[in-house]
Amino acid sequence: MSAFYPVFLDLRGRRAVLIGGGAVAEQKVRGLVAAGAHVTVVSPDLSAGLTDLALRGAIEVRRRPYRGGDLAGAWLAIAATDDRAVNEAVYAEAERLGIPLNAVDDLEHCSFIAPAIHHEGDITVAVSTGGKSPALAVRLRQRIARLVGRAEARLCALLGELRPELAERVPDARARTALWYAIVDSDVIDFARRGDSEGARGRIDDLVRQALAVPRLKPGPDSPLPLRAVHHRAHSSEWERETGVVYLVGAGPGDPGLITSKGLELLRSADVVVYDRLVSAALVAEAPASAERVFVGKQPHGTGMRQRDINALLVDRARRGRTVVRLKGGDPFVFGRGAEECEALRAAGVRFQVIPGVTSATAVPAAAGIPVTHRRVASAFAVVAGHECDGRSDLDWEALARVPTLVVLMGLSALPDIVARLRAQGAAADTPAAVIASGTLPEQRTVVGTLEDIADLAAAARLEPPATVVIGEVVRVGLTHPVRELVSRA
Ligand SMILES: C[S@@+](CC[C@H](N)C(=O)[O-])C[C@H]1O[C@@H](n2cnc3c(N)ncnc32)[C@H](O)[C@@H]1O
Repeated sequence: MSAFYPVFLDLRGRRAVLIGGGAVAEQKVRGLVAAGAHVTVVSPDLSAGLTDLALRGAIEVRRRPYRGGDLAGAWLAIAATDDRAVNEAVYAEAERLGIPLNAVDDLEHCSFIAPAIHHEGDITVAVSTGGKSPALAVRLRQRIARLVGRAEARLCALLGELRPELAERVPDARARTALWYAIVDSDVIDFARRGDSEGARGRIDDLVRQALAVPRLKPGPDSPLPLRAVHHRAHSSEWERETGVVYLVGAGPGDPGLITSKGLELLRSADVVVYDRLVSAALVAEAPASAERVFVGKQPHGTGMRQRDINALLVDRARRGRTVVRLKGGDPFVFGRGAEECEALRAAGVRFQVIPGVTSATAVPAAAGIPVTHRRVASAFAVVAGHECDGRSDLDWEALARVPTLVVLMGLSALPDIVARLRAQGAAADTPAAVIASGTLPEQRTVVGTLEDIADLAAAARLEPPATVVIGEVVRVGLTHPVRELVSRA
């Protein structure tokens, strides 16, 4: 348990005394002046910056060493000297007068410590390591700075502006809190990112209207739980239910750098991460250390958590008020069973949002240098699931044989069947084809051939799933390597 109690102080118009005149003192003084404090600096020597501030009348200066009585009238004090004896004397005076003191790098003589700060508009994030490692605090602050940027500051300003209006429109405090959560968990931030404050207002207005409307039978991502019902809910379990949310986040095709920045942001603030087999371990590691991590992927021999148990898990955690990130390989809605999970969440009245991902259907061919469309040779592409073709398939193979580029996911084991079906529908034997295994990863391997020999080439190369198959002229156009060459990036 931390021994420090975090607060944000209103220093406007209050006296702060700073003992010391070097670079560290200057940095502290600048922070105090920016917060509106009246600053007195006590030091025989002053840095150039402090001299400048004194000349401009921004601070008062006593150009001499500290002496007892210097803290008189102070509301806050900082000792930025490297002399422990001075710190000790200042500390004794501060304690006697009941003035909070921070002695820089001298924890023993501190009654408060200064956190590493990240400011963005009205948002301030303070990081403390309890005085144990200021350097770590700074690094953590820098990571936070990547998450809390101008869009968040813009949103914060807008929400502050709308606060009185919302208090009037939704007088019930609990209902209003539920609505605030619905707003900040919604896509309003996307409008802020685009700098579209009118759009953001409109979206918030929609959410307020929906919240005040008669309950819908099936709430979805755009319809937070009806607030009329919230008025009558008193139990904490019901309360938690309103704050829980599930984000279905596309993790991309394998390379952890290919998640969207929005997906990563949500992942880094998740309470629970539920992830599949093809999701990179490096991405799962991005979740907070305290987050619950649940692996639900199918094992190679076909075992794994059943879909209905995954759905139940998502609903359960959201109902406990958790922020759940359901991390799925590629894009959640491309053969990812994302739709089923959304249906289950909607049926359970759990709020959810889908964050699209970079699908392997286009990214894996791209990683092998194959564009799925090309102005001269392919003005359309189709994406199909190959495991459908193991003897049975509902797909229209006659039509698929005519699509300029065919991308097949989960098609490695059924590759001979796929080739046979296309050939039976008139596809030419010399149609270029490629199989890319572990695309975008360091172990990526690509086998290139034609419909005539691609199944044999892939088998001979002993390619392992996950693999994506691309069939069409784009294979020839995109690759710089001669056809039939086995390319290994490893
Ligand atoms: C169950 S599907 C999920 C697809 C995913 N939702 C997407 O949008 O990429 C899994 C299939 O995607 C393809 N796949 C996923 N990651 C891949 C990778 N790194 N390299 C090659 N193919 C990949 C394979 O065909 C694999 O069998």
